[in-house]
Amino acid sequence: MRSKIIVTGGCGYIGSHTAIELIENDFDVVILDDLSNSTEKTISRIHKITGVTPTFVKVDLKDSLATSKVFETHKDAVGVIHFAAHKAVGESVQKPLMYYKNNFYSLLNTLEAQSEHGINNFIFSSSATVYGTPNMLPITENNETQRPFSPYGNTKKIAEEILDDFTKSSDSFSAISLRYFNPIGAHPSGEIGELPNGIPNNLMPYITQTAAGVRDKLMVYGNDYPTKDGTPIRDYIHVVDLAKAHVIAVKRLLKKEQEESLEFFNLGTGVGYSVLDVINSFEDVTNSKLNYEITGRRDGDVPQLYASTDLAKEKLGWSADRELNDMISSSWNWEQNLRSKQN
Ligand code: UFG
Repeated sequence: MRSKIIVTGGCGYIGSHTAIELIENDFDVVILDDLSNSTEKTISRIHKITGVTPTFVKVDLKDSLATSKVFETHKDAVGVIHFAAHKAVGESVQKPLMYYKNNFYSLLNTLEAQSEHGINNFIFSSSATVYGTPNMLPITENNETQRPFSPYGNTKKIAEEILDDFTKSSDSFSAISLRYFNPIGAHPSGEIGELPNGIPNNLMPYITQTAAGVRDKLMVYGNDYPTKDGTPIRDYIHVVDLAKAHVIAVKRLLKKEQEESLEFFNLGTGVGYSVLDVINSFEDVTNSKLNYEITGRRDGDVPQLYASTDLAKEKLGWSADRELNDMISSSWNWEQNLRSKQN
């Protein structure tokens, strides 16, 4: 019999790519999503790619009763991967209460509902933002966490603390927190990818929308950082590599291979690229010129962030194999498909 995994936020960017990898690894997938920042069309696109239609339930996980009901229906699930959360850094600064309410109510309701039904395995979608401004690079999982700049980031840090308390209080509950660096790219089919709501905050969707003519010009936030070309350095990782790591993490919990009841893993490539590196590679890959202008720094940006990937390699046997060019060409392919379909 197939093992059933509940994927909250499974119609979103990373959730949908993970649902595909789970299906391809013979898991039965149940997607819970409130569609607040995603579309139900993702379900048919997952079918198109895998030949399998995952079960879909539209549910607001802030609603504890509704959450409890859906977990009652799917109490035969063996684990949960929790993506459902608001994620826009800038918006979280404007609307902190909305972020704390949404991200914590949904986390707490999910944890409560799943433990009520003995579903004791949990993968959490965390972020490198929990490291704040690191004083050592590459960042290992032992680096101190710091209060992140944004309320969004703080929801990730506090969520990890909640998981720490909760796993310690339980004999049976185990969790893995996956700390993403900068996920970009899209599924090679071009069927699914990132669907930013309104004006993108992040570099790659801003680049592809500029190239597609949706935005006039990319603003590069600062070229006076202490880096090789003055622009900030990040560890960009292909979303398909990221998705595969979730499947490995789930299997680790199911096989009870975890060494602690709460484990943390960085998900990055270990290679840092500057903003200008990304722009130059985009121009090479697409053989076009990008309209951009250097402007002042953006609040909260750190000069450099890239992962140590050793722990994930050693304990999960996972490392990213997709290169920057592949990340860029798949993002561009997705953007062009999006425009032609006018989703
Ligand atoms: N950038 C620009 N112009 C833009 C957008 C971004 O120059 O229009 C620059 C940023 O200043 C930064 C780099 O591109 O130097 C990457 O910015 P992103 O917004 O793409 O990514 P961040 O590293 O700021 O944020 C990402 C995730 C967050 C997470 C954070 C953790 O998107 O969810 O990493 O460090 F909190």
